[in-house]
Amino acid sequence: MDFKPPAVIDNGTGYTKMGYAGNVEPQYIIPTTISLPSSKGTSSFVDTKRGGVEDLDFYIGTDCAKHTNTHAINYPIRHGLIENWDNMERLWQRCIFDSLRCDPQEHYMLLTEPPLNTPENREYTAEIMFETFNVPGLYIAVQAVLALAASWTKKSVAERTLTGTVIDSGDGVTHVIPVADGYVIGSCIKHIPLAGRDITNFVQQIQRERKEPIPAEDSLETARRTKEMHSYVCPDLVKEFAKYDSNPQKYIRKYEGIKKGTGRTWVSEVGYERFLGPEIFFNPEIFSSDFLTPLPEVVDEAILKCPIDTRRGLYNNIVLSGGSTMFKDFGRRLNRDIKKRVDRRMDANLERLGALGRTANAQPIDVNVVSHHMQRYAVWFGGSMLASTPEFYRVCHTKAQYDEEGPRIARHNAVFTAQM
Ligand SMILES: Nc1ncnc2c1ncn2[C@@H]1O[C@H](COP(=O)(O)OP(=O)(O)OP(=O)(O)O)[C@@H](O)[C@H]1O
Ligand SMILES: [Mg+2]
Repeated sequence: MDFKPPAVIDNGTGYTKMGYAGNVEPQYIIPTTISLPSSKGTSSFVDTKRGGVEDLDFYIGTDCAKHTNTHAINYPIRHGLIENWDNMERLWQRCIFDSLRCDPQEHYMLLTEPPLNTPENREYTAEIMFETFNVPGLYIAVQAVLALAASWTKKSVAERTLTGTVIDSGDGVTHVIPVADGYVIGSCIKHIPLAGRDITNFVQQIQRERKEPIPAEDSLETARRTKEMHSYVCPDLVKEFAKYDSNPQKYIRKYEGIKKGTGRTWVSEVGYERFLGPEIFFNPEIFSSDFLTPLPEVVDEAILKCPIDTRRGLYNNIVLSGGSTMFKDFGRRLNRDIKKRVDRRMDANLERLGALGRTANAQPIDVNVVSHHMQRYAVWFGGSMLASTPEFYRVCHTKAQYDEEGPRIARHNAVFTAQM
């Protein structure tokens, strides 16, 4: 039976990316938010038994901001995991029917999941997709594996590998995920509780402290936009500050906004927050007192925990994914700092051996952080590529299988062998 192109939906903590397989970029990107009538309160929906989507008085994505007087906003995904299933079902309903304008009975569906998603969550997802939306086939792909596949745009066919370390940093969470031959090495995943939303908050705090003339209601949005437009990663924080202080005008950028209501324009300055924001990945103590390990150290430690025969491949292919890896020179600094650690360890080992009167002919380890032009929507793009191969139909669970065996089929994935 012929089906229309598969739909690909990547639901992130901050943004939902959706579109049809075969495209290079998602056709629709909306905030992963839903607004429900405030009089009912959002909590009354949490425990209701699922039985289809009855209540239609709700908004999703950008429309939520227009109805703040009557509706309360809810974020159904937290730190990458779906937390409110009723709201998630409502969100999917609008995404599928209104944004994608898709009859779900005619399209296979590819959804994504964060590392360490639970089997129960996969079952719930399958139940909603097959029972509420009647999809003919479903594949729930691990985000990190899709991000690895997305980095192939930079590589020749011979170099394409599903071994590498993925650094996925979005809005709500940063993960370091070692993957060997398409399998996530679950016990070696590291989670960092710092991501885009924290950087936005940090930038907002700096702009407030400097008393920039930004209207209060626009301050968060201004922080996010100035962060996305003007931030960069510097090679050395102390030196960068010294350079900044000696000639601030060279660094300062202007940001212009329009005040809602009056329509008057206002102008603010963007200064040292340009490099201080993303610095929280490299010197977390400037922002957080709970989490203090710099990202390069987390990556190095994650790889060191992995089986010894995988490590070379994991250092060799460190792949970036997600909006918060988009800062200028992020990959360059990460590469340098990881390499410094690896080289230092190697030198210390050689010295130790030398002291024992032995020599070693160890090959140097090649640290390679891969930045590429699909990085922003890497997970979605990897999904779009996978879902446009004939192999996709082989790895999907079908409605017939679901009807026969029930939701438990979603507990395991058929492995995708990457024959693209
Ligand atoms: N050019 C840019 N430079 C820096 N940050 C950016 C850029 N573009 C987007 N971002 C930030 O990336 C974040 C969104 O990234 P992404 O869509 O990958 O997250 P998500 O998938 O919703 O969240 P998560 O993966 O944490 O569940 C936001 O914080 C946004 O401000
Ligand atoms: Mg994401």
